[in-house]
Amino acid sequence: VDRNGKPLNGGPPKVIAHRGSSHVEPEHTLGAYERAIAEGADGIECDVRLTADRHLVCVHDRRVNRTSNGKGVVSDLELAHLEDLDWGSWKRRPDTGDPEEPDRNQANLLTLRQLILTALAANRPLDLVIETKHPTRYAGEVERQLVQVLHEFDLLIPGNSLVTVRAMSFSTLAMQRLAKYAPHLQRVLLIEPGAPLPFRDGLPRGVAIAGPGMPIVRRHRGFVQKHHAAGHQVHVWTVDKPRDIEICLDLGVDAIITNKPSVVREAVDAV
Ligand code: G3P
Ligand code: CA
Repeated sequence: VDRNGKPLNGGPPKVIAHRGSSHVEPEHTLGAYERAIAEGADGIECDVRLTADRHLVCVHDRRVNRTSNGKGVVSDLELAHLEDLDWGSWKRRPDTGDPEEPDRNQANLLTLRQLILTALAANRPLDLVIETKHPTRYAGEVERQLVQVLHEFDLLIPGNSLVTVRAMSFSTLAMQRLAKYAPHLQRVLLIEPGAPLPFRDGLPRGVAIAGPGMPIVRRHRGFVQKHHAAGHQVHVWTVDKPRDIEICLDLGVDAIITNKPSVVREAVDAV
């Protein structure tokens, strides 16, 4: 494969573990993130939602049904209730052939504060990439709370800590809110493969990183080059297949967001 493109900063692309090392461990659990860090991920991605009593928790879906043994909408439930659920047993692990390795595990809910503590405990440079979900419910409260928590840990100014935070969202409104509440926080506008073309070609003012889904990059090979020419980084999700990893390396994307950080780490290090 030709290595035609280069990441903007000249170094290798960053390996970002999507929901932790979520191919193996139940997504968004402590085990998933600790595994990703041990596997040498440059960063970890998580989705955040607000509970009914306004705590930020690391959960992807609107409902708890898929990834816990409970039922209901995250933002209708209180933290204590969510903490009582099991967030691990829903997932069967890939068979490693090791009879010692259990095929399922119980796991606790992870709050954003616990995730930040985990990232800090790595004690090495690590990107913490936080996606705000349900941006319309509670009108900006998710972004406000996020900025408050980051402020508590002194993570709002890049370069202050070994942990570098980026905020991501599919919502331009969330981007605007974050720009207002935390002007120095890096922001990534996520772009859905079905999104209208104008957003594929440019970014709203003040956003310097594009976050396209892999199908966009696969279909529009000029996407990365065009954004690089405009000084925008390109962070691509969710890149698990060998062919997609190759395409990302060839195009010189700036970050590869993957459920399989150990596989992508190996591919990046082999270049
Ligand atoms: O990293 C971006 C990606 O996570 C966006 O999609 O649905 O996995 O949150 P989703
Ligand atoms: Ca996400």
